Amino acid sequence: MMECLYLLLVVFHFTAGCSLSGEQTLKLVTGHTGSSVLLPCSCTDLQTKPQRVTWKINRGEREWTEVFSADQYRDRLHQFNEDSPANLSLLISDLREEDDGDYRCETEKESRDFWLYVKGCDLANSEEIEEVTRFSGESVVLLCSCTDLQTKPNTVKWEFSSDKSETSPYVEIYSAQTGQHRDRFRLTNKNSGNLSLLISDLTEEDQGDYSCSVQRDRKYIRLHVKVRETPTHLWTTDPTTTPSEDPPTTETTESERIMMCVAR
Ligand SMILES: *[C@@H]1O[C@H](CO)[C@@H](O)[C@H](O)[C@H]1NC(C)=O
Repeated sequence: MMECLYLLLVVFHFTAGCSLSGEQTLKLVTGHTGSSVLLPCSCTDLQTKPQRVTWKINRGEREWTEVFSADQYRDRLHQFNEDSPANLSLLISDLREEDDGDYRCETEKESRDFWLYVKGCDLANSEEIEEVTRFSGESVVLLCSCTDLQTKPNTVKWEFSSDKSETSPYVEIYSAQTGQHRDRFRLTNKNSGNLSLLISDLTEEDQGDYSCSVQRDRKYIRLHVKVRETPTHLWTTDPTTTPSEDPPTTETTESERIMMCVAR
């Protein structure tokens, strides 16, 4: 009799298989662009495993599609059920805004639904044009950051338009996608929501409008580069340089002139 009961339990256990833990209600999960998110799904009894598990996505279409067959997720999906068969969770890494949608963990018996909301980068102070003034030869950090520093945007682009003419087109000076940038330009902080650009050794040519752009936002900064008067400038007659407010008299020695420049 006991043996029969035991056998029955074993058979029951086997056929019962995996019942999913948690409630069947839609679960909201929030992620940030550039980081990872775990959609949790597992069998209540960690000793069991489902015969079949599929993860599906729906972005408001009529049909659900399998995530592993979607190109969009290539190399960004990870599952854990090889090592722990009852753990059916899905890890999505390097999140993008277009990963937004409904996700479903589905076994032969039941399913669990998630709504994934991916928070993207909105730039801080993007409504106003910031004005910055520096002397030539100096460095400048042009500030640009996501309001939420946890969001690392998938694309960042810095562009420059010289103020030489009204119609100067914007040219790309830094792109996070290609990793290409010109010599004197670099991001102060890689891999974060801080997208500020450092420009070293400024010249008059750097004067103009700069734009920092992410997927859905853009910020403008106007940079003025003043020419610092060095002793050599005092001997040239460049009409674009403003006259020194306090020209050194002919009696000042070379070292005194240098001191004045440093002090300024
Ligand atoms: C499944 O695996 C992930 C990653 O190791 C872990 O974070 C999660 O807690 C696991 N879930 C269960 C139910 O063990």
